[in-house]
Amino acid sequence: MLAMARERIVTAERLDPDEERQNWSLRPTTLDEYIGQPQLVERLRIAIAAARQRGEPLEHVLLHGPPGLGKTTLAHVIGHEMGGQVHITSGPALTRAGDLVGPLTKLRRGDILFVDEIHRLPAPVEEYIYPAMEDFRIDVSVDSGMHARSITLNIEPFCLIGATTRAGLVSGPLRSRFGMTHHLEFYNDADLHTIARRSARLLEMKCDSPETLALPARRSRGTPRIVNRLLRRIRDYAQVHNGGVVTAAIVEEALTLEGVDGLGLDPLDRKYLKVLGTTFGGGPAGVEAIAATMSEESDTLEEVVEPYLLQCGYLTRTRRGRQLTPPGAAHVGVPLARADASLFEAPN
Ligand code: ADE
Repeated sequence: MLAMARERIVTAERLDPDEERQNWSLRPTTLDEYIGQPQLVERLRIAIAAARQRGEPLEHVLLHGPPGLGKTTLAHVIGHEMGGQVHITSGPALTRAGDLVGPLTKLRRGDILFVDEIHRLPAPVEEYIYPAMEDFRIDVSVDSGMHARSITLNIEPFCLIGATTRAGLVSGPLRSRFGMTHHLEFYNDADLHTIARRSARLLEMKCDSPETLALPARRSRGTPRIVNRLLRRIRDYAQVHNGGVVTAAIVEEALTLEGVDGLGLDPLDRKYLKVLGTTFGGGPAGVEAIAATMSEESDTLEEVVEPYLLQCGYLTRTRRGRQLTPPGAAHVGVPLARADASLFEAPN
């Protein structure tokens, strides 16, 4: 089931290493090239300028927010602006404290250690990283058996950038060791349109008008990774059907073929809304019951389907279960029973 979710063109998760490679060329490398997240960019601009003036590494940064919004991209931008190398690892890859010795001792002054999914660091690894973050030192065991002992090593001053989609799961002690914490927001349509124009230029796409690219931007669920993926599908479609020229009609046809509708919903999203609207009369219904009806797993629905439907205002989560809203019902053409519609009327 999860495999199906991963294959969705509108998923914000990374699809495969090949896609990552293709996205690489589309990534901004400097803060000036970075589009969107204006408050974060301004905070980083100041912190980076100040750190550079003092000749110190940047304070540790914790980035949290939904997948696909550019946490890894930002780590590379920060590395570029600070003139340091970026070393990448992730919470699940670090199973024992010893796994950190290599990455930490390889760092040179001013380098960046990027830890993705930092909420998944095992507790012993997390504790091991505290003195590295605070005092740039680590304990290393030498010898074994009777002669085993631990020595303290100084490591070069570095900047840890932690990324997480689940800020609530980052422990208090770890969170308190970051000098800067920032939540990445979904991108608005205007920013996604600018990103789409920039990516289309880099992909050497021919468009009849820059406005045409507002169409895929609006269908990208606030997520740059999705707009770039849709652009590649549109480029292929235009090449095969229209001599490589992208027009509004070509965008429409290409995305309809991919099952992506005018708001960026795909067949799985629409099936969810329809099942809730028809089988459950609009709800409230438990996610387990909806999942069973759809032959999906409830985790899939909670993690990859519901967040965007909630954001669109097509779905609400009540104490009694999931409830379809009137706009959600209208989107899939399901009549909402009067009793349910009244749940959304303003109290008098
Ligand atoms: N490509 C992906 N995300 C981007 C961003 N925030 N700015 C510019 N180009 C991007």
